[in-house]
Amino acid sequence: MATGIIGTGSFLPPTIIDNNELAKMVKTDDEWIREHTGIVERHIATDETTSYMATEAAFAAIENAGIDPKEIDLIILATLSPERATPSMSCIVQDKIGAVNATCFDLNAACSGFVYALQTADAYITAGLAKTALIIGSETLSKMVDWKDRSTCILFADGAGAAIVTEREQGILSSVTRSDGSKGMSLKCKERSTRNFLNKKTEDKHYIQMIGPDIFKFAVRKVPACIDLLLQRANMSKEDVTYFVLHQANARIVASVSNKMEIPIEKFPMNIEHCGNTSSASIPILLDEMNRSAMLKPGDKLVLCGFGGGLTWGAQLLEWSMPTPEITDDEESEEAHEAENEMQDTEE
Ligand code: UT7
Repeated sequence: MATGIIGTGSFLPPTIIDNNELAKMVKTDDEWIREHTGIVERHIATDETTSYMATEAAFAAIENAGIDPKEIDLIILATLSPERATPSMSCIVQDKIGAVNATCFDLNAACSGFVYALQTADAYITAGLAKTALIIGSETLSKMVDWKDRSTCILFADGAGAAIVTEREQGILSSVTRSDGSKGMSLKCKERSTRNFLNKKTEDKHYIQMIGPDIFKFAVRKVPACIDLLLQRANMSKEDVTYFVLHQANARIVASVSNKMEIPIEKFPMNIEHCGNTSSASIPILLDEMNRSAMLKPGDKLVLCGFGGGLTWGAQLLEWSMPTPEITDDEESEEAHEAENEMQDTEE
């Protein structure tokens, strides 16, 4: 038996900021952002909090899995941007969704948060400590970036993604996580307002600061090695994998990994163009999009891979077991209509 995904969900706040709007705020332009990151627009939380978005994503995943929230006995919420220190985001979600039987805790592994949470849920389930887990990645990074710092505000964004996992015939085949605290200061947020009571200094320390090129090089070095180890542990090859679902940090990182591993870029789905970099939420948001758009079929092998602050990185290889949803004619024509509108917008 294995730990398998039986439902996915996501939530993106409705406010969208495109590159041209950002160019009015900092010295940047649409062309630079597209070329250096692949991002065109991103969703920004206005009144939505980390726990609110997590709850919305959780409701969607529960509905998708067709379970009663009372069946959930573990909630792990990955975030680096909780709106409060306590109660935890996972306890707030528990209350909102009525998962009265769940043990709840938050986890901070930055952009690797979702794969760390999935590995932890797998360990609980395999050890017999839980049967059905809700895992969530939720971030309001827009509240932590300095909107005058063009190296971070163009990249980070908000959103939440969730998955329900339980014991299944098909599921996780192998799992790897790693950390290197010695290099952690290349992506830091030294202080949060929770410390301002005694420490009144309000310099730039409560904003995310990042040495982007260092993180870029770290990702391109570690991700292929991590995936190689993952496949080796499962005695499988890269050709066996249907899709590589990487953290949506930067489209150029994904392209570099594809190039370095000599795996066609078509095997690396991306949604960074419209979502930006949502840290721990990026993998489950993308996975939910893939699930709901009928891209996945039972038996597909997926690699999920996260990397980022800490520094942390990690990956899972899993066999997909959910049935492919049927897209109704209405949905198809709606999608076709949207695609048509998008083409018209581009032509204009
Ligand atoms: O989510 C997990 C953790 N984070 C990541 O994985 C992010 C990894 N890093 C990156 O994605 C990229 O390093 C960034 C997108 C952050 C930056 O792209 P880059 O190609 O590495 O740019 P750079 O920092 O090397 O800067 C190149 C130039 C510099 O100008 P000079 O010194 O060559 O004249 C920057 O000042 O581009 C300039 N620049 C910009 N120009 C226009 C930096 N940011 C911007 C900007 N608009 N927004």
